[in-house]
Amino acid sequence: MFDPHKIREDFPILKRKINNHPLVYLDNAATSQKPRQVIEAIKNFYENRNANVHRAVHTLSQEASELYEKAHEEVADFINADGIEEIVFVRGTTEAINLVAYSWGLRNLKKGDEVIVSLMEHHSNIVPWEILSKINGFSIKYVGLNDEGGLDYEAYEELITKKTKIACFSHVSNFSGIINDVKRIAKIAHDHGALTLIDGAQSVPHLPTDVRDLDVDFLAFSGHKMLGPTGIGVLYGKRDILENMEPFQGGGEMIREVLFDSITQRCTITWNNLPWKFEAGTPNICDGVGLMEAVKYLRAIGMENVQAHEHVLTEYAMKRMLECRNVEIYGPKDASLKCGIIPFNVEGFSSHDVALFLDNYGIMIRSGFHCTQPLHTIFKLKSSARVSFYIYNTREEVDKFMEALMEIEQI
Ligand SMILES: Cc1ncc(COP(=O)(O)O)c(C=O)c1O
Repeated sequence: MFDPHKIREDFPILKRKINNHPLVYLDNAATSQKPRQVIEAIKNFYENRNANVHRAVHTLSQEASELYEKAHEEVADFINADGIEEIVFVRGTTEAINLVAYSWGLRNLKKGDEVIVSLMEHHSNIVPWEILSKINGFSIKYVGLNDEGGLDYEAYEELITKKTKIACFSHVSNFSGIINDVKRIAKIAHDHGALTLIDGAQSVPHLPTDVRDLDVDFLAFSGHKMLGPTGIGVLYGKRDILENMEPFQGGGEMIREVLFDSITQRCTITWNNLPWKFEAGTPNICDGVGLMEAVKYLRAIGMENVQAHEHVLTEYAMKRMLECRNVEIYGPKDASLKCGIIPFNVEGFSSHDVALFLDNYGIMIRSGFHCTQPLHTIFKLKSSARVSFYIYNTREEVDKFMEALMEIEQI
């Protein structure tokens, strides 16, 4: 039985009081809290297993290497990838997208080519493409939104051409929580000979994910949004695509051989096997192990249960928020179309005022642009407040949030 009250016992930080009120953490889209199993795994690693990986024959290094590889395996199983060769550990979603932009995009995109991006993207799925287009001269086409705030699939189909080389979309919007139809996105891209890069930062932590069923070419996500530590994230890539890509960064770990030729006075370099070819230098071993523990924790709960719990909270919160006269919610009002994210504003107050008022009651929410400035321009918003749920949030916390929100309304 899924019981958020029981789950809360695993999260030490949730025992904290802020401004003399029990902490109500509703900023999960920014980063999640960590269960003691993850915290313990990190502590245990540094206390008992710490060594560099793939470098030495001694016992500690062997143990650390085994753990680090097991972490890749656990993540591969979690998203149904075809083995650890398809799982590259990076710093987070941002680095994963930059890896694709620079390793794949730098060599495969040229003047005359097109990249398709949506206007609901987080800046991390816009800025790398804009930077690269200034180097390589390809064009970028932006897909807008439909009336529900979802992706305008018709516009996408009209914009895509044989010149399109890659289509980059988020699975779940970090502004509205709307769930995009990734299978449809991938099919349209593949029908035109283009690849797909899916930003899974807000989907992998909250929905069951099966990369083979979705048929995506790349999927990027962050460990810290799914109970794991900061500084570790994942780029999934189809094996044949990764095999044909050049490395992102050069250094140790990513090479098999560096042979100096005394005649040419140059080095000939061969790359290491996947996924190490893309993990140059000493990797973030400990946080990879922490991520493995986070994935195990989520698998034990079951991602269907995670999704169902967030759905109940979102539906309840939206129903109550919609009853408030001065609160406006953006994006879909039907909770079944989205994950547990609700953007809103209170008439007459800036989003930061709302967030600071709630902070007085120990309630943590996000305010500002949430790194989606183009989307805010479309919605004609200066900024927005955002609540976002996770496995440890409860109906009682939604009630506390609503009580405080109604107080703001009465000011
Ligand atoms: C949809 C989406 N993409 C990308 C990111 C960037 O993630 P990170 O900062 O972990 O690289 C975020 C973070 O909020 C996000 O919500």
